[in-house]
Amino acid sequence: MQLIESKLPTHIGIIMDGNGRWATKRGLPRNLGHKEGMKAVERTIDALIKFKIKVVTFFAFSTENWKRSKEEIDGIFSLVREYLKTNRDYFNNKGVQVRSMGDLSKFPKDLSSELENVKEETKDNDKLILNLALNYGGRADIVYSVNKLIKSGKKEINEKDILDNLYSEGLAEPDLIIRSSGEQRISNFMIYQGAYSEFYFTKTLWPDFDEKCLKKALVDFQKRDRRYGGIK
Ligand code: FPP
Repeated sequence: MQLIESKLPTHIGIIMDGNGRWATKRGLPRNLGHKEGMKAVERTIDALIKFKIKVVTFFAFSTENWKRSKEEIDGIFSLVREYLKTNRDYFNNKGVQVRSMGDLSKFPKDLSSELENVKEETKDNDKLILNLALNYGGRADIVYSVNKLIKSGKKEINEKDILDNLYSEGLAEPDLIIRSSGEQRISNFMIYQGAYSEFYFTKTLWPDFDEKCLKKALVDFQKRDRRYGGIK
């Protein structure tokens, strides 16, 4: 099946679910599932560039993920840190601009400063925006936006004001949200920005996700009739 360039999503959100189950099924510790999940992230970014997608947001760590064991949380942080460290040349050679959304103040200092450095270093790249949702929750995002508006002295706010002040400020709303592993829920991911997103659920566990899975999601997306509440 061919992809039609004019009908591709601009922004794809990805809820990478199933790392733990992938590992448990093999009798491995959960962190090995996340390690394999990181390889799937790398494969997917290659494929996104190949398919000329402009923006991707990965749900890498949610505001609820702090409930996990310290070992697992530290493991995820190490993976993200390592990834950012080793991919500098890749980002610059491929034109990847790294951004993030979420409250970084609770992250280990070395991780947040690594991230800030990469963001600064890649800010002029324009092939693919790689947005990392870290310590992110959709409800916290709305609160963040409204608080910014209150501080600016606004007396009355509208929908666009809230949208423009979310962590995703300046990014297109996600056209497509993909969730792996068979779960069919939004889990507090971009709930404001995703009001009109198309959803694609696949049973594939995240560590097994690859270019073929992404292409399937894109082909499916192209068949959707997006009416935004109107009539065609
Ligand atoms: C959910 O699987 C996945 C996560 C909590 C995210 C894991 C984070 C990474 C792989 C790092 C991503 C880094 C970048 C830079 C994008 P799960 O543990 O909830 O799986 P389960 O439902 O089977 O337990």
